[in-house]
Amino acid sequence: MTPPRSDLRSPPPQGGAASGPAKPVPRRPLDHPSTCHETKLTLDVNGQPHTLAVPPDAPLLQVLRNDLALNGPKYGCGLGECGACLVLIDGTPARSCVIPVRVAEGRAVTTLEGLPARAQAEGDALHPVQQAFIDAQAAQCGYCLNGMVIATVALLERHPCPSDVQVRAALSHNLCRCGTHLEILDAVRRAADLIAP
Ligand code: FES
Ligand code: FES
Repeated sequence: MTPPRSDLRSPPPQGGAASGPAKPVPRRPLDHPSTCHETKLTLDVNGQPHTLAVPPDAPLLQVLRNDLALNGPKYGCGLGECGACLVLIDGTPARSCVIPVRVAEGRAVTTLEGLPARAQAEGDALHPVQQAFIDAQAAQCGYCLNGMVIATVALLERHPCPSDVQVRAALSHNLCRCGTHLEILDAVRRAADLIAP
């Protein structure tokens, strides 16, 4: 259906003489909020200890990406709703954009980068779930795939031969804006076949 004309208008210009005083530019969501309350924390990420001085309430995602240069987890909504930022914490999928970094201290954090070692893959080999997503060509823009892969790893570690209902339930809170859902479901089935004894 053609949208009403009012929906096709450009957003009003920001600032300038015709629209009044310029509005303040919002802070980039992944900037550290402040350095004056930094605390030393030791994180176990992908099997390596990291001692960092960070604001303890900073989102775990921010520390992973900005301080540890681990860009597998993505910033999507920043609200715990899309799943792009998923990591494993003690083997459980966790939305790192809404988890304060202090909560991760003393726990094992695994990001996308740590999956080959988690699967004891040799050489340049990937985790079987990563390989299955490539084989199934389950990416269009690829932005959601970190969350899809992490959720699938967690699912298959609990249920190596999941039913379709279990697969859909495990991925139901991960959003894909490109609509590659059928390829993603195919990738999960391929991953289960690769992992099956
Ligand atoms: S970025 Fe964390 S759930 Fe969307
Ligand atoms: S492939 Fe683009 S959001 Fe899923």
